[in-house]
Amino acid sequence: METVFSGIQPSGGFHIGNYFGAVQNWVEMQDKYRCLFCVVDLHALTQTYDTKAMQERVETLTAELLASGLDPNRAVLFAQSHVPEHSELAWILSTVTPYGELSRMTQFKEKSEREPENINAGLMSYPILMAADILLYRATRVPVGVDQVQHLELAREICRRFNSRFGNVFPEPQPIHTKALKILGVDGKQKMSKSLDNSIQVSDDPEVIRKKVKNAFTDPTRLKKADPGHPDTCYVCSLQGYFATPEETATYHDNCRTASWGCVDSKRALAENMVKYLAPIREKAAEWKAHPDRIRQVLGDGAQTARVLANDTMDKVREALGLYK
Ligand code: TYM
Repeated sequence: METVFSGIQPSGGFHIGNYFGAVQNWVEMQDKYRCLFCVVDLHALTQTYDTKAMQERVETLTAELLASGLDPNRAVLFAQSHVPEHSELAWILSTVTPYGELSRMTQFKEKSEREPENINAGLMSYPILMAADILLYRATRVPVGVDQVQHLELAREICRRFNSRFGNVFPEPQPIHTKALKILGVDGKQKMSKSLDNSIQVSDDPEVIRKKVKNAFTDPTRLKKADPGHPDTCYVCSLQGYFATPEETATYHDNCRTASWGCVDSKRALAENMVKYLAPIREKAAEWKAHPDRIRQVLGDGAQTARVLANDTMDKVREALGLYK
């Protein structure tokens, strides 16, 4: 059975971009593959964060992942820092990683611009740790949003370089995408991201969702309600299909095109469908959050399983490298 690996940062939010861009796919893959899903807390250290909030962030994100349908009986769910082999393999892989490629990574450049006072070496070697995450479990499929494609290409390159120098230890991983390659933020321009302050969180209260949708970007060419809309390019219309049936979505788009609905009406439909769609996830996440001991148990069991697999790979890696026994 092929192995699937993917990760998500506990950087203080689980938004609908994460959900539709990656996690919905994770849930579906649980039945078909051996799956490992990781809360990548070591990656989150590369940006400034509040140390007192980290425990809570890992727990909240884990609760949200479980509420979204990840099942600890069918997938291994764990925190990255509980499996130290991730860091060990990252160091080893750094010795076959072309330095120039790291500095060309789009996310490195973006994050450096966003936090110019904190351009640390970890931010640059971030994709090496990602490669280690995946290769440590010899995973072949990696379900991610399109923003991670460049990192995955580098992981594949690192994998090839390691194998050609030290022997065929790792299979080459492939990215797997959902239909939601990239969900834009409510500004309608940039990728939805917690740090860009343009996200709708899966656990947002209904009133917060309504307010965010009400202020979302709409068709700038539509100056009054009587102007026909352009559902193919309208941000609000682009989200309808995630929360409504195909028939409802087609009707909403028609209403927009024929101007029988104004943007306010489209937004109202979107907000109400979103509230309805996300309610069960929000409620289940709250139930998990009320039992931190159970979350701890899930992550503890997950780490134990992951470490067995990680140790097995590290034995092969040390052997291939010719390290002293
Ligand atoms: P992270 O935490 O930024 O995001 C988690 C997953 O959500 C996807 N995603 C999106 N998809 C569509 N539209 C969006 N607006 C959007 N925002 C986020 C991401 O593509 C990702 O799949 N470096 C990774 C985590 C990671 C990882 C790994 C992933 C660490 N090691 C190994 C795969 C394999 C990250 O920061 O994801």
